[in-house]
Amino acid sequence: MSKMWSGRFKQGAAKLLDEFNASLPFDKLLYKEDIEGSMAHATMLGAQGILTQEEARILCEGLAKVREEIEAGEFEFVIEDEDIHMAVEKRLTELVGDVGGKLHTARSRNDQVALDFRLYVLRSNRALIGHLDALIQTLLAIAKEHTQTLMPGMTHLQHAQPINFGFHLLAYMYMFKRDIERFEESYKRNNLLPLGCAALAGTPHLVDRQLTAKLLGFEGVTPNCLDTVSDRDFALEILFNIATMMMHISRLSEELILWSSSEFRFVTFSDEYSTGSSIMPQKKNPDVPELLRGKSGRVYGNLMGLLTVLKGLPLAYNKDMQEDKEGVFDSVQTATISLQILTAAMATLTINTDKMLSACKVGHLSATDLADYLVRSCNIPFREAHHITGRAVARAEEIGCDVSELSFKELVSIDGRIKEDVLGCLPLEASMNARSSEGGTATKRTLEQLSHMETWLKEREA
Ligand code: ARG
Repeated sequence: MSKMWSGRFKQGAAKLLDEFNASLPFDKLLYKEDIEGSMAHATMLGAQGILTQEEARILCEGLAKVREEIEAGEFEFVIEDEDIHMAVEKRLTELVGDVGGKLHTARSRNDQVALDFRLYVLRSNRALIGHLDALIQTLLAIAKEHTQTLMPGMTHLQHAQPINFGFHLLAYMYMFKRDIERFEESYKRNNLLPLGCAALAGTPHLVDRQLTAKLLGFEGVTPNCLDTVSDRDFALEILFNIATMMMHISRLSEELILWSSSEFRFVTFSDEYSTGSSIMPQKKNPDVPELLRGKSGRVYGNLMGLLTVLKGLPLAYNKDMQEDKEGVFDSVQTATISLQILTAAMATLTINTDKMLSACKVGHLSATDLADYLVRSCNIPFREAHHITGRAVARAEEIGCDVSELSFKELVSIDGRIKEDVLGCLPLEASMNARSSEGGTATKRTLEQLSHMETWLKEREA
């Protein structure tokens, strides 16, 4: 079979080369983008008089037919066609005859692949934003129910101060909010048409790039052809955005794994999103968050892979760049299913508020409140207050109770300046609500954050 580029060759390509060189096995995923791009290109060529209107019409109809064949599973993908661009063009020419050969006027595969891939990345970007949105909505609904649910806030994975569970979930919601913002910023930056740059330097044909951009829904056109055909920043950006998002998902997953263990039991996964053991019949395993945590590894790998492919490339297109696609496809697919399953698992999660509360009674969570009381009400310097509180904690340990359970008699024997009103500061709920600085865990501040989040979600919808 002779290749589109075989004019200057005397011998056909080796079978091994065909297999090594081809991107068709994976870039066939871009058939939709390829055909849409070609339709817009043909329409522009017709409008500019580079082709006749009739020729442009025939090309567009032929392209629509090729798309139908692919979607009906009737299209025969053969490795000798090398990539999706040549596979589509070859079939188009079979269908419409010689005029098919005119489609590639004023175009190179270099700007064509840059277009197809960018369209794919932009669409994936949009879709991921939608999935992130659904996740935040789900977390919001849970958080609203738990603005008074006490749980131990931790540092170093040690009990630190009481917080409410809604506040904890809000921390993740703000991470996912930043993820959405990152995707949106990338979208804006990269929403420019690469087509019309041709091989590297532009084209002598009188193309109208603005028209092609409009037909495809781009904000504008890329400003420098040499940069455009060698630029894969848009792909790196989605890889980085996904990597960061998966890091957030992985951290939440880690907490879900801890929380669902017998030691914590803060949450219980629904049967639908739990798995069993093949040997231990009693087991219910958190495979979902474990896999989510594990999948962050592969998406980091995809980011590092593409950065490495690109780092030594001279301008402009080099075949190395064909290595750009599989990692991006993989990251997008991984991110998509990860967001979907996390949302579903969260929506069906049981929150064991009693377990959270009893965990709060371990670890002297209101010790800081006693120190804060000594500073505020007894005018004792914080360092000294810290020391006095340490003695109270030691006393509580001696008696075998929590610092919040010490009697006034015990407290006053530790420091005579302590008054009876200290007892109002030590209960867990009072401690949580005392952290009322802007952004704090106090229920009223948590409610503020929830309404901020809700407003932000609503404004994006509009
Ligand atoms: N299959 C190629 C890729 O994915 C398309 C561009 C090929 N361009 C070229 N000059 N060989 O990168």
